[in-house]
Amino acid sequence: MCGIVAYIGHREAYPILIKGLKRLEYRGYDSAGIALLNGNLNIYKKQGKVSELEENVKGKDISGSLGMGHTRWATHGEPNDVNSHPHISQSGEIAIIHNGIIENYATLKEALLDRGHTFSSDTDTEILAHLIEDIKQNTHSTLEEAVRLALHEVIGAYAIVIVSKNDPTKLIGARKGSPLVVGIGDGEFFMASDATPIIEYTKNVSYLNDGEIAYIKDGTLTVKTINNVEKVPYIQTLEMNLESIEKGGYKHFMLKEIHEQPKSIYDSLRGRFDPVTATFAMRSLKEYEGKIKNLNRIIIVGCGTSWHAGLVGEYLFEDIARIPVEVEYASEFRYRNPVVNEDDLVIAISQSGETADTLAAIELAKEKGATIFGLCNVVGSSIPRASHAGAYTHAGPEIGVASTKAFTAQVAVLTLWALGFAELRGKTTKQHLREAFSQLEAITEKVERTLHCESKVIEIAKVFKNSRNFLYLGRGYGFPVALEGALKLKEISYIHAEGYPAAEMKHGPIALIDEEMPVVVIATKGNIYEKVISNIQEVKARKGKIIAIVTEGDTKVAGMADYTIEIPETIDYLEPLVATIPLQLLSYHIAVMRGCNVDQPRNLAKSVTVE
Ligand code: G6P
Repeated sequence: MCGIVAYIGHREAYPILIKGLKRLEYRGYDSAGIALLNGNLNIYKKQGKVSELEENVKGKDISGSLGMGHTRWATHGEPNDVNSHPHISQSGEIAIIHNGIIENYATLKEALLDRGHTFSSDTDTEILAHLIEDIKQNTHSTLEEAVRLALHEVIGAYAIVIVSKNDPTKLIGARKGSPLVVGIGDGEFFMASDATPIIEYTKNVSYLNDGEIAYIKDGTLTVKTINNVEKVPYIQTLEMNLESIEKGGYKHFMLKEIHEQPKSIYDSLRGRFDPVTATFAMRSLKEYEGKIKNLNRIIIVGCGTSWHAGLVGEYLFEDIARIPVEVEYASEFRYRNPVVNEDDLVIAISQSGETADTLAAIELAKEKGATIFGLCNVVGSSIPRASHAGAYTHAGPEIGVASTKAFTAQVAVLTLWALGFAELRGKTTKQHLREAFSQLEAITEKVERTLHCESKVIEIAKVFKNSRNFLYLGRGYGFPVALEGALKLKEISYIHAEGYPAAEMKHGPIALIDEEMPVVVIATKGNIYEKVISNIQEVKARKGKIIAIVTEGDTKVAGMADYTIEIPETIDYLEPLVATIPLQLLSYHIAVMRGCNVDQPRNLAKSVTVE
């Protein structure tokens, strides 16, 4: 969704804000704006990328050591200069930036119109700036108090930052449902949607909880709840470094992140099992041993790529631990009155840990008595905090909007959980665990080797870059991989692609196949290899073009397919970790060849904090 950054201190704010906005641009990129205070309140905003805003402010007054910036992903009001943030109050005294949605904005607006307010944008955010000023004037209260009272009237989700021309030593931020982190430096403070704009200056941060307001006034940070109860801010030291959020010589974040997968998978597995004793070192398994032994069912919720990881999870838990699993789109689950009870374990998967639907789904499941495990990448984000237990994927910051390394890291941790659950429920043996652990230890080298297919993938991408449609087929563990491959292509190249269970093709998509249709098939050796070969023949008989992902050394499929990409052999349930890699590379190179902005595809945002 939108990205927020703010600064108050002894340096010039502008360079910090612009650099921060560029780091947050993955959250939204249809327009950007900044507000700077230096006696005057200077606001500059522009439709388009942060670089366009930067161009636009050349030669203008950008001085000031208090300021805030915003990069937008439109919800209310089309992306244009006027609807860009910051928005100002009626008198122009108060400026606000906002990430989220104010659901009752129409009612609030009506009341403000009645009181003589006039609005220049179509946004919900502008209403809040007016409301704060209205309350401040009518109640003769301080800016802090007016913000607090205004938030009592707001229904919806928000992370906001506020500055006022008349209070140049104050910076105020608040959150409910959308993330906001405060950075604490030496005589300076930062606020941002995530820590990436901050870590260059300080590693000490405090994540606000829902319903909390941070007031920075005369060099002091105070955190209070919306009900005016003072809280002691929990300040933590981040381990993230600058290098991990920069491109490191790669042309795009997505390509860097694809190539980071040997490390991100390794980091997500590291220290969590001991191959010698065939034991686990995961807090979730230890602390919830009783629960895991007795649970009746696992429900996995997520959105987008995380939902695909959940599908792999379904296969893993049922196959290895023999536990029934349901995988649900979080957005459907939360609104369809699902049957959930105390014997259920709900696993919420989310890279960002902030996806609004996933968060709402676990709140619902919690109310119904279920135990919640979060599987997230962003430390300290909302979903892990709302969960009873869980595990982090140690994939490092993922900046490319299309998720890559987070997916494989999620699958790696789900594999460990499935094995761990199997052990606790007596569904596996030490011998099997040793074998599984040795395969897991070998996986990072196999992922590394898989990345060598890139030159072959580039050749294939050249052939198919102008195709209008793609079909992705897989069976068993290959099916979620096919879905994820299709999603990657759609997201970044805008080619229509569908993932399908290979055998289901006969019940519909086969009608689409002709000599123009590339069909990517996950055809690795496993117990349904022969069945997949039959499906390949069905495509070939209709002149479709086969791009097959095959096991190293395979000659059978190679003899039938138009193009093959080899991946190292591994145990079937670890195959998603390797088979996904060539599909990520294929979508990346096709998108680059089509001139698409792979890191910031149109209409998408990395973190969807609205319903
Ligand atoms: C957005 C992103 C996807 C991501 C999905 C779920 O749509 O563009 O890449 O898979 O949200 O995000 P989460 O952070 O919950 O994994």
